[in-house]
Amino acid sequence: MTRLSVNINKVALIRNARGEDLPNLVQVAKDCESFGAEGITVHPRPDERHIKYSDIPELKEVVSTEFNIEGNPTDRFMEMVLKHKPHQATLVPDKPGALTSDSGWDTISNAEFLKEVTAKLQDAGICVSIFVNAKPEFVEGAKAVGADRIEFYTGDFARSFHINPEEAVKAHVEAAKKANEVGIGINAGHDLNLDNLRYYKESVPGLLEVSIGHALISDALYYGFKNTIQMYRAKLD
Ligand code: PXP
Repeated sequence: MTRLSVNINKVALIRNARGEDLPNLVQVAKDCESFGAEGITVHPRPDERHIKYSDIPELKEVVSTEFNIEGNPTDRFMEMVLKHKPHQATLVPDKPGALTSDSGWDTISNAEFLKEVTAKLQDAGICVSIFVNAKPEFVEGAKAVGADRIEFYTGDFARSFHINPEEAVKAHVEAAKKANEVGIGINAGHDLNLDNLRYYKESVPGLLEVSIGHALISDALYYGFKNTIQMYRAKLD
């Protein structure tokens, strides 16, 4: 079974446009869960243009499925995550001003650093996932630093899916085989949508979780959250 974790960053972006509390993030998180989401993901970026650090405590209180916090493990991020203890932390090598995450860790050259932060998070009972490009060597590197999971960056897959789906997913299938062989769980995310999700899920063996934000929130503008979440869930069933 593949879990659907809804990334609610874009909901926060709309809220922040007016500086008040509409839409209410906590209510949206609760509603997403009641409509079938099996996780809620947030990605507080250094400039807090969508999720703010101050959103985290209340979300932690209400999320009853899996709460996943993504981000670059800076001192500030680590302090917040260790304080609020989400179920999962996804480590992402974001540059401070990045528009979005467009690449994963080189888990080999950053092994020492990743090992240290992974151990700190796991000691606090947090499942650690490391965002990587779909390459077997980065999967092995993530396993070597002790991570519980890897999250494949799927932007490359999404970009070439319409041209040649089989070619687009090839590297992901290979990297997933390596993950299954070495015994590390597989998450995936970035640019997954209603067109490409089923193909990705059916092609990648052992996919435990997808985290989807931009396309899902955009679809919800047309179909509403309830229909949209059910449509995405149906692609995973
Ligand atoms: N995974 C990571 C690490 C991300 O940074 C993002 C975007 O915040 C996603 C998944 C979700 O990507 P999208 O918004 O394109 O669905």
